[in-house]
Amino acid sequence: MSAASHSPIRKVAVIGAGTIGASWAAHFLAHGLDVVVSDPAPGAKEHTQQLIDGAWPVLKSLGTVKGDPKGWRFEPDPAKAVEGVDFVQENAPERYEVKQKLLGVIGELLPPEVVIASSSSGLLVTRFSQGCRFPERCVIGHPFNPPHLIPLVEVVGGEKASRAAIDTAMAFYAAIGKRPIEIRKEVTGHVANRLQAALWREAIYLVEQGVASVSDIDAAVTEGPGLRWALMGPHMTFNLGGGQGGLAHFMEHLLPAVESWWADLGTPNMTAELQQTLVDGVKAEADGRSMTELAQWRDKLLTDIITLRAASAEASAAAAADRRLDEALEETFPGSDAPSVTRQTPAEDIEGDPAKRG
Ligand SMILES: NC(=O)c1ccc[n+]([C@@H]2O[C@H](COP(=O)([O-])OP(=O)(O)OC[C@H]3O[C@@H](n4cnc5c(N)ncnc54)[C@H](O)[C@@H]3O)[C@@H](O)[C@H]2O)c1
Repeated sequence: MSAASHSPIRKVAVIGAGTIGASWAAHFLAHGLDVVVSDPAPGAKEHTQQLIDGAWPVLKSLGTVKGDPKGWRFEPDPAKAVEGVDFVQENAPERYEVKQKLLGVIGELLPPEVVIASSSSGLLVTRFSQGCRFPERCVIGHPFNPPHLIPLVEVVGGEKASRAAIDTAMAFYAAIGKRPIEIRKEVTGHVANRLQAALWREAIYLVEQGVASVSDIDAAVTEGPGLRWALMGPHMTFNLGGGQGGLAHFMEHLLPAVESWWADLGTPNMTAELQQTLVDGVKAEADGRSMTELAQWRDKLLTDIITLRAASAEASAAAAADRRLDEALEETFPGSDAPSVTRQTPAEDIEGDPAKRG
């Protein structure tokens, strides 16, 4: 691959249809793509349909649905599934030998411009694309669970990946409503999972040390910093933490304290007993709610947050466009009383006058 593929991606193969693959299938289908799914497990076709049907109302509420929830094809043999596709999303088990074998088989059959993107949570694509014909078209396209809702996709090219393959994957994910970020250097766990792992390690360490209960430690995230994290990452969060002085002032003021906390962070000893404490802890926290109930509750609130953020982004974009127009008018008619431009959008209604809120 020497240049980003300019032919449109219309047909996608989803290889491996467990939790992640089936959710990807729902997302691709909702964006009007021609989807073929492959998985060797008995009942995989039914499981995939079940997940798509469950995801459909949520996708509809996000306004993204173009396709038909039954309008996809199942093909147990991955070699047959990839026939004529423009893009492959691989979601097989997180093991080097499984992915390497799979990419060897499908790579033989696909032309070099077809990108094979793996959902792998943390493996190195350089390693599992060894043996794939044209490894330069193999990348990581790592989503977050559930991929049909969470916007982030981490795109990672291994040592052999071509610029064109990375650009094609980035453009494809952006075109179907995702927020791809490019990870410039291959590291196990990519970026977001390393961040999650760092937080979880400390959360478990605090349980192990008897500092607080499992559910109180979860509340320390969801009732506090977690609310802000849906809006801004750690750097921007602490930029605001510094007041008018921003991050520079924050560091001047609080970095010595933060450095002393870093020095005190721990690594838990994951004994069977500690693992059982964690399992019992989340059971108590779930308070009788089933996995399905918890997932439905999560998806409903995630949808609300995503919708709210989209409305806010739309209002900001409209305000920025108005500002640019005002500036252009001022440049063309300096000092004149050219009327300021105001544009009314439903999002402005929501964000603007509190009295107008329902
Ligand atoms: N679960 C998560 O939260 C999550 C999030 C992001 C990425 N991922 C990644 O997505 C991938 C899949 O994870 P999952 O959680 O969906 O696992 P899963 O166990 O739910 O699904 C894996 C599926 O792969 C199928 N499979 C087994 N061997 C196969 C083969 N040779 N070819 C094709 N399919 C095969 C299985 O039948 C199963 O349906 C992994 O690489 C994982 O790291 C997982």
